[in-house]
Amino acid sequence: MDRSRVLIIGATGNLGYHLAKASINASHPTFALVRDSAFDDPQKSQKIGSLSDAGAVILKGALEEEKRLVEALKQVDVVICAIPSKQALAQQNLIRAIKLAGSIKRFIPSEFGADPDKVRIHGMDYNFYSSKVDIRRLVEAEGIPHTYICCNFFMSVLLTSLVQPGLKTPPRDKVTIFGDGEAKGVFVKEEDVAAFTISTVDDPRTLNKVMYLRPAGNVYSMNELTEIWESKIGKKLERTYISEEELLIKIKETPYPDNMPFIFIYSAFVKGDLTYFDIESSGGVEGTQLYPQVKYATVSEFLDTLV
Ligand SMILES: NC(=O)c1ccc[n+]([C@@H]2O[C@H](COP(=O)([O-])OP(=O)(O)OC[C@H]3O[C@@H](n4cnc5c(N)ncnc54)[C@H](OP(=O)(O)O)[C@@H]3O)[C@@H](O)[C@H]2O)c1
Repeated sequence: MDRSRVLIIGATGNLGYHLAKASINASHPTFALVRDSAFDDPQKSQKIGSLSDAGAVILKGALEEEKRLVEALKQVDVVICAIPSKQALAQQNLIRAIKLAGSIKRFIPSEFGADPDKVRIHGMDYNFYSSKVDIRRLVEAEGIPHTYICCNFFMSVLLTSLVQPGLKTPPRDKVTIFGDGEAKGVFVKEEDVAAFTISTVDDPRTLNKVMYLRPAGNVYSMNELTEIWESKIGKKLERTYISEEELLIKIKETPYPDNMPFIFIYSAFVKGDLTYFDIESSGGVEGTQLYPQVKYATVSEFLDTLV
C-alpha cells in the first residue's frame, strides 16, 4: 500500500515541525501549510527551508483562508493540526474545509496532551480542555475519520525543572512536592510524540480511537522523580509538601495565565488525571504497545542531560 499523503498545519511551530520531519522520515509524501507571515521570520523561514530541502511540499495558507485550505486538503489523505491550544476552536474552519474537500481519510486534531474527556478539573482550566472537547464532538458529529493523540506532558514543559514552576533547571537543594507526591504523570519528548503520531496515520487499529502514550520508563510520581534525580546528583533534597488545599489557593491567587502550570500540576500530580483510568477498558490504544519499534527517550535519559 502506498503511504498516505500527509498535510501538517503548524509546521513552523514546535510540535508541528517535528511532525513534518517524522512524516518525511517515515516516507510519507509530506505537505506543510504555512502562513504568509512565517516567511518574514528568520527562524520560521529556516524551518520552512529545512522541510523543503528534506522533500516537503510547502503550501501557503491559514485556517482562516478557506479556498487555500480546501485546495491543500484536496492534495492529501491525512491532515494533522498542531496549532496552539488557545486557538483550538479555529479548527472549526478546518472541519468545514475537510467536509468541502471530501477526500480526507484521517484527521488528527491539535490535542497532544491530557485526554480532554478524562481530566477532572472542570471550570478551572479557562476552557483549555473544553474547547478540545468541543472540537472532538464536532469531528464525530460530522463523521470525519480521526485519531486523537493523548501524549500527556512534553518533556520540555515541566520535566526540565523537575516539576518546579519558576525554575529553569531541576533543583539541587530543595524540592516542592504537590499533594502527597504519589499520583503518576507521564512525560514524552516532542520528537517521540511526533514519531508515534505519524505511526498511526495508516493504521486501522487507531481509526476513530484515542492513542495514549504511557511508555515504560516515562510514568512517574513526584516522589519517584525526586528519588531518580537524587540518585543522579548523589544528594538528598529537602522536601516541602504543598497540600491540595494550599495548591488550590495558589491557583486562585496567581493571575491567569501564570497559574496554568499550577493547574496542569494539580490535574496530573494531585488529581492523577493522566493515569487514573485503564486505557484498554476505556476503548483506547497505547502507542508503545502498537509500535514497539519506535525508539523513545526515557525520563532517566532525559534527566541525565540535565545533571
Ligand atoms: N503536552 C504538552 O506538554 C504540550 C505542550 C505544548 C504544546 N502542546 C500541544 O501541542 C500542539 C502544538 O503546540 P505548539 O506549542 O507546538 O505550537 P506552536 O509552537 O505555538 O506552533 C503553532 C503553529 O501553528 C501555526 N498556526 C497558528 N495559528 C494558525 C492558523 N490560524 N492557521 C495556520 N497555522 C496556524 C503557527 O504558525 P505561525 O508560525 O505562522 O505562527 C505555528 O506553526 C497543541 O495542541 C498544544 O496543546 C502540548
